[in-house]
Amino acid sequence: MPLRLGVNLDHAATLRQARYARDAQSSLAEPDPVEAALIAEKAGADGITAHLREDRRHMQDRDIYRLKESLQTKLNLEMGNAPEIVAIALQVKAHDACLVPENRREITTEGGLDCLTHRAALESTIGKLHAVGTVVSLFIDPDPEQICAAADLKAAYIELHTGAFANATGRARQHELQRLITGAQQAHDLGLRINAGHGLNYENVSELFTVPHLVELNIGHAIISRALFTGLASAVKEMKTLCQGYPL
Ligand code: PXP
Repeated sequence: MPLRLGVNLDHAATLRQARYARDAQSSLAEPDPVEAALIAEKAGADGITAHLREDRRHMQDRDIYRLKESLQTKLNLEMGNAPEIVAIALQVKAHDACLVPENRREITTEGGLDCLTHRAALESTIGKLHAVGTVVSLFIDPDPEQICAAADLKAAYIELHTGAFANATGRARQHELQRLITGAQQAHDLGLRINAGHGLNYENVSELFTVPHLVELNIGHAIISRALFTGLASAVKEMKTLCQGYPL
């Protein structure tokens, strides 16, 4: 299977909120993340990712429902394990849900989820999401203990956090890449499927292609940034072309 591209559109909503936070439902509120999603799908996105944060700083509840109704591909709902958000996820019944840690002061999702400390709470939420047919992914660092815990929790997927790799330079970058390679192999041996994301861009994405067994990359910031200059369709197509370089 070719490497799939999930386009994260949170920052389309960030831009709308910058001006229309008080009136995101107004017909004037732009840009509309759903319109962006339809363009991204047409340009080759294999899925759309949206994070409904507790602080609603970008995506709003209505965006999530509209995305679920409008998409031809699939909605990957990124979510913290908070009761209010879980209740919405159970109503929306997104195709996929990616559980992430959430800290109100972070600019974007920082470290991976701690599946050891939060095991009981995660187990309960994963069970509920499975019951409504949502495929669950756990966003974790490439740490052997976290990967074992994710397998114990019976998640179908992990999403390997590529932020440390993306931020590192020189030998540290090689070290981070090796952690991702080893982690992906371990996860595959445990029967997990593997996505990856965070901090990936047009320059570093091909470097990741030595990581085995990748199913999907979730990329947001770089695509939305490039879209300002080239348009969203072109930005998505370019990333999709890069993804086609992943060895099958
Ligand atoms: N995957 C997860 C779990 C994330 O939290 C994010 C950021 O919202 C991304 C992927 C996309 O990261 P970026 O915007 O750096 O491409």
